[in-house]
Amino acid sequence: MNSAAPRSCFLPDEPWPDDQGNHINAHGGGILHHAGVYYWFGEHKEDGDTAEVGVHVYSSTDLYNWTDRGIALAVVETPGHDIERGCIIERPKVIFNPPTGKFVMWFHLELKGHGRKAARSGVAVSDSPAGPFRYLHSLRPNPGVWPLNVTPAQIAALPEGQKLVGTAFWGSPHPDRAKMNFLGRDFHSGQMAKDMTLFVDDDGAAYHVYSSEENSTLHLARLSADFTTHDGAWTRAFPYLWHEAPALFKHAGRYWMLSSHCTGWNPNTARLSVADSIWGPWRELGNPCTSPAPAGRLGPELTFGGQSTHVLPVHGKPGAFIAMFDTWRPEAHRTGGYLWLPLRFENDRFTLEWLERWDLSVFGA
Ligand code: DGJ
Repeated sequence: MNSAAPRSCFLPDEPWPDDQGNHINAHGGGILHHAGVYYWFGEHKEDGDTAEVGVHVYSSTDLYNWTDRGIALAVVETPGHDIERGCIIERPKVIFNPPTGKFVMWFHLELKGHGRKAARSGVAVSDSPAGPFRYLHSLRPNPGVWPLNVTPAQIAALPEGQKLVGTAFWGSPHPDRAKMNFLGRDFHSGQMAKDMTLFVDDDGAAYHVYSSEENSTLHLARLSADFTTHDGAWTRAFPYLWHEAPALFKHAGRYWMLSSHCTGWNPNTARLSVADSIWGPWRELGNPCTSPAPAGRLGPELTFGGQSTHVLPVHGKPGAFIAMFDTWRPEAHRTGGYLWLPLRFENDRFTLEWLERWDLSVFGA
């Protein structure tokens, strides 16, 4: 393909050509800012759900124009390997660990041929931001460790929970949910981890935030000093309220989260939440999308067709945040779109309006 003309604006959900003229292939992505450069990591999709190539990375200095930097983490051919071609790799995120000088990637991993039952987290490291990343290991978070906000009743119910070992759940809200102690079921093996993000706090501590307990409950777990595993401090948030697609950011000393409901590839209503401490309590503030349905598009009650994946702080513009959503096209995943909109802070909460075309000047000088 021919290289594309440079862009000077965002065109939400329009095809987004890279420097070669190819639609960017980095779905469920996240962005690392390092030494003046933005790196966009995401799922390289072919037509189906499975990882046939790996995690793709692009770089940019202006956020509009992206250079294809290739495959940051490639799937492998070895049968039985965690990231064997045909596994599922979703929502990769990369953060930098200053003490080790390593870039650390985490992603939701499902093992080849096992559907979505494994619910593991994969970890890879690199000496340079665009990779190549070296696969380290996969894990289930915090085996044998109760959350900081566990209750005596939950600990007492451990034997009941263990009776559920090996059982699967049907993955949506259900009146019998309260009888199903997934926390106890997965206590010894480690908790399930599906849709995920990473967040680095001002003090350098990093957190892994993921949909757990069959997607019914979100967990926030602090990472070890080198960011390659957990350090054992974790909490549950929004018990049995079914959050997916978490994206965390910090503003004016408070922690904010964009997330979604749980409807597979279909769009649903976005959710905004806030907390004074990362450990909670978290408070839901409702749908941040405010403007009416744009012509020919899904409306604010369906996030204009998108599902959150990352909230990007704009470098050098304190308080400026871009909400990044995917528009999934499961019939041809590689054509999925990127719907980026500016977050606006007003009346003590963030809101989102649909914009056909916009640029960074919306955030002021
Ligand atoms: C919704 C999640 O947010 C996506 O990342 C993906 O896992 C789909 N579910 C699969 O149905």
